Amino acid sequence: MPFVSFVVKKSLPDRHGAALDAGLGRSDVNGVRHQLAYAISPAGPGDAGDLARVHVQAWRETYPGLLPKAYLDGLSIPRHARLWRRRLMSTHEVTLAAEGVDGLVGYCSGGESRVPGEGLAEITTLYVLREAQDAGLGRRLLTDTARVLAARGAVSLIIWVLRDNTPARGFYEHLGGKLDAARVETVGGRIIPSVGYRWERLGGWVGT
Ligand SMILES: CC(C)(COP(=O)(O)OP(=O)(O)OC[C@H]1O[C@@H](n2cnc3c(N)ncnc32)[C@H](O)[C@@H]1OP(=O)(O)O)[C@@H](O)C(=O)NCCC(=O)NCCS
Repeated sequence: MPFVSFVVKKSLPDRHGAALDAGLGRSDVNGVRHQLAYAISPAGPGDAGDLARVHVQAWRETYPGLLPKAYLDGLSIPRHARLWRRRLMSTHEVTLAAEGVDGLVGYCSGGESRVPGEGLAEITTLYVLREAQDAGLGRRLLTDTARVLAARGAVSLIIWVLRDNTPARGFYEHLGGKLDAARVETVGGRIIPSVGYRWERLGGWVGT
């Protein structure tokens, strides 16, 4: 399986980097190495509780000021665990999860697009907890999920993101997504503008 069992490592401060590059085995250095390493693998129904925990934490980290406070305060891990369990039973979507030494820290799901388009796939959700950001994990989760979707026959890809989620938009643009569409969504009773980024030649992007 091309997307199973690889590890990304966050850049380390120089004092650790030299030791790690030299392959030293001191326990303090190894401790740093393990804290900063993540494995990515397909998620199943047994991961529903952990995915719900990450979901709620990630939304509360990402969306203050963008989504209603009452909605974020009311997010429920047990409710989202039930939703995740149902979602993970479906064969229409694939979900990859990123795990660190203390548990899951991110995930990405994708499937056939909800808007019409032959061969168009959609990344339906992508979240990395703040503590694990800037380590290359978002890129790996996205490209590995895209690779699975390409293997299932998708030729292009779309991702919807809140219009005012500037950091995520910067990330998608950095990875070559082209601004393609706009729409509104209703979240927590508020109408929220969102925009779609598209990759036209998915196979070329993910190298399939
Ligand atoms: C957006 C998100 C998935 C990115 O994941 P990440 O692990 O932090 O990003 P990575 O470390 O994989 O970054 C990959 C590349 O994108 C670049 N990048 C990241 N954020 C960027 C930004 N705002 N603007 C420009 N480039 C950016 C990185 O510098 C890196 O570049 P390189 O690989 O060429 O060196 C993550 O920050 C996140 O989950 N944010 C909160 C939730 C969210 O907004 N999700 C999207 C909902 S649609």
